Order: sequence, then C-alpha cells, then structure tokens
Amino acid sequence: MPDLSVTLAGVKLKNPILPASGTLETVDTPMLAGDLSQLGALVNKTVTRDRRDGNPPPRVWETAAGMLNSVGIPSIGIDEFMKGGLPRLRARNDRIIVSIAGFSVREFVELAETVAAAGLADFIELNLSCPNLESGVLWSTDSGLLAEVVGGVRRAVNVPLIAKLSPNVTDIAEMAAVAESAGADALGLVNTFRGLAIDVRVKKPALGNTTGGLSGPAVKPLALYAVWSSYRRVRIPIVGMGGICSWRDAIEFMLAGATAVAVGMYNFVEPGCMWEIRDGIDRYLAENGFNGAKDIIGLAHRNQ
Ligand SMILES: Cc1cc2nc3c(=O)[nH]c(=O)nc-3n(C[C@H](O)[C@H](O)[C@H](O)COP(=O)(O)O)c2cc1C
Repeated sequence: MPDLSVTLAGVKLKNPILPASGTLETVDTPMLAGDLSQLGALVNKTVTRDRRDGNPPPRVWETAAGMLNSVGIPSIGIDEFMKGGLPRLRARNDRIIVSIAGFSVREFVELAETVAAAGLADFIELNLSCPNLESGVLWSTDSGLLAEVVGGVRRAVNVPLIAKLSPNVTDIAEMAAVAESAGADALGLVNTFRGLAIDVRVKKPALGNTTGGLSGPAVKPLALYAVWSSYRRVRIPIVGMGGICSWRDAIEFMLAGATAVAVGMYNFVEPGCMWEIRDGIDRYLAENGFNGAKDIIGLAHRNQ
C-alpha cells in the first residue's frame, strides 16, 4: 500500500487532497458525499473581519469548460467564525487551513493574530487574490504590497502561512519568489482568472458584479503552468489548484511540483470527486511502483 501522506511546510497531511477555499460546504448537508476526516485538510470559505453579504446576483455563470463566479466573499465575520465555524471544522479533520482576507495590511495582521491565538489552525491561508473584491487581486499583483502583507503577517504570527496568489500577472513565478522572500511557508496556486460573460438575451454582462473569476477545466493548463514555473523558482511547497476534476489532473499537478492539490469547481459537479481522486492517486502510485505520494512531487522536472 503506497503511503499517501505528504508534508506541507513541516505539517504532515494524511493525503494530498484538499477542498479549495469557498467550494465545499462543511456543515452537515446531503451534498456531502464523503467523510471529511479522510481529506488531507479542510479549508474554510475565506473569512473577513466584518460580516459581509458579498456581491449582487447572479453570482455564477456556466461557461463552455468552467464556471465564472463573482461571489465576492460573503462572510459571517471573524468573531462568529471563531465561535462556531472554526471549532466545527476542527471537529471534522485533524488538519485545518484558515483562509482570511483583509482590506488593509493591518486587517490581515489582526485577523491572523486572532486565528493564531485560538491555536486551532495548522495553517493560515492569506487570500491575496480574490478577483471579486475591489482590491482583491492587488495584494498579489503588486510586488510591493505582496511583500508588505506577507511580511507583516509573518512578523505577527508563528502559524505556517500559505500565500494564495492570483494568476492575473505576467510572471507568477516572480510573485511566488516575492512571497517566499517575505516569509510565506507555502503557496496556493492559483485563484481564479478574471473573466466576463455577456448575456445576449438582455445584452449586458451576465454577472451582477460585471466581471467574475473563471475556474474549472478551462484553466487547468494555465494553472498547471503556474505551478510548474513557480516550482522551478522557489523552495517552499505549493498547493496546486485550478481545474482539477480527476485523479489524472491531480497527478499532473503533483508531477509539476505541487505537494498538495485542491479541488474547487468540480465539487459542485461531482460532490464525491475528492474521495475518488484520493483513491485514484493511491492506485496510480501502486501501479507505477511508487512507495508514496511524496515520490512524485516535481518528478516531471527531473524526468525532462
Ligand atoms: C464558487 C467559488 C467560490 C470561491 N471562493 C473562494 C474563497 O472564498 N477564497 C479563495 O481563496 N478562493 C475562492 N475560490 C477559488 C478557489 O478556491 C480556487 O482557487 C479556484 O476556483 C481554482 O480551482 P478550481 O478550478 O478547481 O475551481 C472560489 C471558487 C469558486 C468556484
């Protein structure tokens, strides 16, 4: 039996499969198609300091090979999350990634301090890349701001930090290097790609927010390249995501350099897919004679 465990920034995960932030409901619901404790870690929908409603509807729009969303981070606010959401997540898995977004460096730091003080998070993920907030992608498309926010949080807390970056840049490997130098322990690659749909019936943008973020199969080769190029540039581990729908996709991301892989949009299409992907990785490793998942991380670079 291959060993599915991987180590992400010094923290052992039982397997490399995670939900991508914002795409898995973790309260009990008939939508849940598997045992949450069997995933590598759980990730909350990004939480903000204050309560927020998010963007006006429609918030999702189907495209030929993916989905545009402009959800815009509706949030219960950090206080409610710390009281209810976080302890509930913790009860469902022994590894928790808490995703936060601030509207200033100070807010990011305060959110991280609040999360760290509770001692329930194994990682803090800085959502530096939401295309549906006015200043959302600025954090990881401006290298000065990126260094400032990652550095600020780094100096404030000891919890391992994942910097989740936007693909809406010319050279994501460059931004990955900035995040690494500023003290990130891992990278989340990638968030959604800014896009647009127009509803021809009403002859105006289809989404209430005008633009949205594209994810799903359409973005997989783009996201895979982001992981590939960043892996060559930095030493910190990468959580790869963007269009993962099958165990083959997940294996591609790991061969390209991802230590763990997150599934987003496809959770809405096939709610049991993360558990199937885990089993598929297991079979692939066994059939190809690998001892464990860690043996294939970045292997495509060495086989070139
Ligand atoms: C409906 C929806 C909501 C999302 N909400 C968040 C969020 O709150 N925080 C975040 O960092 N990313 C969010 N994302 C981005 C995903 O976590 C992921 O980075 C992206 O969708 C790429 O993966 P995918 O192609 O598998 O969907 C969201 C994506 C979708 C589709």
